[in-house]
Amino acid sequence: MKIVVIGGSGLLGSKVVQRLKDGGHEAVPASPRSGVNSVTGEGLLEALSGADVLVDASNAPSFDDDPAMAFFTNSTMNLIVAAKASDIGHYVAMSIVGCDQLPESGYLRAKVAQEKLVEQGTIPYTIVRATQFAEFTDAITASLTVGNEVRVPDALIQPIATQDLADEVALVAEAQPINGIVNIGGPEKISFEQMAGESLARQGESKVVVVDPQATYFGTPLSSGSLVVP
Ligand SMILES: NC(=O)c1ccc[n+]([C@@H]2O[C@H](COP(=O)([O-])OP(=O)(O)OC[C@H]3O[C@@H](n4cnc5c(N)ncnc54)[C@H](OP(=O)(O)O)[C@@H]3O)[C@@H](O)[C@H]2O)c1
Repeated sequence: MKIVVIGGSGLLGSKVVQRLKDGGHEAVPASPRSGVNSVTGEGLLEALSGADVLVDASNAPSFDDDPAMAFFTNSTMNLIVAAKASDIGHYVAMSIVGCDQLPESGYLRAKVAQEKLVEQGTIPYTIVRATQFAEFTDAITASLTVGNEVRVPDALIQPIATQDLADEVALVAEAQPINGIVNIGGPEKISFEQMAGESLARQGESKVVVVDPQATYFGTPLSSGSLVVP
């Protein structure tokens, strides 16, 4: 099949492209660096010409509330119009486990808006909600660091290696659309405390991890299971 991966140069997208190529598909990465911009629409129709499947693994350049919302809504509206014009049979969109449970995060509100547009579009689709990338846990730990302490929420997290996720996303792209949501998580649900401890050990850092029920995840209060596969 010809499968176009929007954001195919990114951390996840590049691995999806490689996995699909290894599986014998014509996998085409499409992003600004290859002349395809889903926000302006530049190059979209050319990239999607003759494609069977579109995988959207793009990400916003800014995670701030308004820019993230503008990115995911404009990009998704353009992708739906171009996919329809190109007779795409399966639209695969990347999203985040629990995004609809955490409305205090502007980035997650933008992912929910992206999901809604895909659901309301007329193209057969599969939304893949993934848990946090394992490669992202050092950045999460850094975001929770205050002086010599890492103040973590009393909640669970389920990191997934992007290679493992890419394998799963490729399987979704190869399969029929389900017109629904698939949740994909890493092998273990662990506490933020354990995640931060492992991150610090990996980096040779001697900071102290403190469980703080008031601590937030990028500004969002969490309940124990907010970020893990239900
Ligand atoms: N990080 C996590 O823990 C996590 C968890 C679950 C789901 N996700 C989701 O997974 C997806 C991929 O995340 P990632 O971390 O792999 O992304 P990333 O590494 O930041 O890559 C972003 C990709 O988006 C492309 N892009 C940026 N602006 C674009 C535009 N205007 N038009 C088309 N493509 C554009 C970039 O292209 P250039 O290289 O050409 O700039 C790049 O290929 C996102 O939807 C994210 O919400 C992330």
